[in-house]
Amino acid sequence: MAQAKYTTHLGMVDILPDETRKWQALENLIRTEAEKFNFEEIRTPIMEQTELIVRGLGQLTDIVSKEIFAFSRGDDNYVLRPELTAPVVRSYVENHLDQRGGSQKLYYIGPMFRAERPQKGRQRQFHQFGVEVLGSDDAVADVEVISFMIQIYNKLGIKNTTLKINSIGDPESRDKYKEALKAYLKPNFDKLSELSKKRYEKNPLRILDSKEEEDKPFIESAPVITDYLNEASKSHYSKVKEYLTDVGILFEEDPYLVRGMDYYTQTAFELISPDLGAQDALAGGGRYDLLVEEIGGQPTPAVGFAAGMERLLIACDELGITLGDEKSVDVYIVTLGDAARRWGVSKLPELRANGHSATMDYMGRSMKAQMKDANRENASYAIIVGDNELNEGKFTFRNMKESEESSLSFDEILGKLGN
Ligand code: HAM
Repeated sequence: MAQAKYTTHLGMVDILPDETRKWQALENLIRTEAEKFNFEEIRTPIMEQTELIVRGLGQLTDIVSKEIFAFSRGDDNYVLRPELTAPVVRSYVENHLDQRGGSQKLYYIGPMFRAERPQKGRQRQFHQFGVEVLGSDDAVADVEVISFMIQIYNKLGIKNTTLKINSIGDPESRDKYKEALKAYLKPNFDKLSELSKKRYEKNPLRILDSKEEEDKPFIESAPVITDYLNEASKSHYSKVKEYLTDVGILFEEDPYLVRGMDYYTQTAFELISPDLGAQDALAGGGRYDLLVEEIGGQPTPAVGFAAGMERLLIACDELGITLGDEKSVDVYIVTLGDAARRWGVSKLPELRANGHSATMDYMGRSMKAQMKDANRENASYAIIVGDNELNEGKFTFRNMKESEESSLSFDEILGKLGN
């Protein structure tokens, strides 16, 4: 086949018709489950102000320093959203969603953009579904968010996952821990990777997330943040663990779990799958009690998660879980001659109005080719019509699966198809 002249950008993929059925099934599942949790959908623009993302996620994060797609137009600085927590918070503040009363329990599904090096499970345009609950500092909110996340994987049969949790405390606890971590790393500062050296002053917690070999020995025996939590942080973390146990969700505590954005406080979690290879995080999230204020709103505690949809679909493939129905159509009208073709065109809307999916040939093909096409389209029934059938008002109604035919009027056919 000839090489296409135009192709997608690196790390951006087309989701083709055979794949979209899976995506639709997944999206339907997410919506159905979100409804059960009383979460409402929010949809925000694909582009945001660069300043929101820089401020929200943190200047020194990988996403902001290396991975955002940003451009300016006139005086405005645009960024393709790399995630949705900061945009949802922006929307919450801008639209005064707090005035709707109670906590806002929002979910979303959509594309995100990060200029990462593409590999299996890592793309530059990828999709997330996620939840943000704004206005509650109760550990119930943390656990509901985690329950929803787990529920989606459970419903699909992806059970071979590990939920890792940690508390990174409030700023007071974290400041104490940062000092302890820096004091511990100081004697070996020269042996740390260049990246960790850079992070040492401004963001030492991120050193714990380093993938560099030279950092590993130091991370392995570093002090743990959970020893530095103040009473309030400790108590919140205990409640989260207690409620998780109450709802029967298994978890592993990982005191070195830190997340990639600066907005996190208290609870942090990740859902890991052994079926994914190097990019093993199915989903992640946590609390961000200070972000609303950071972005200009009133102090508002919040918690959420986001899950990678490509990674979820990879896990399904690895586990042999099929999602979505096969391509199919209820009725294919096969015609011979102009009059029959006219009849066919006029009957399509009637079939559809009765709740059936219906199609016919658009390419002027022979009857034989149309029958072949009906098979390829996985039609349940074919209505075969030529001049004789039109004269008699009786059409060949073929059950494609059973290879059975009968001669029926159109009304009788509608009756057979049912509603
Ligand atoms: P995140 O950990 O950056 O968190 O992303 C969540 C999930 O998105 C990851 O676990 C992964 O499955 C998927 N993901 C991330 N980057 C890529 C990529 N380049 N290609 C494919 N999948 C990817 C957040 O985005 C936070 N906003 C989560 C959150 C919500 N925290 C609080 N509320």
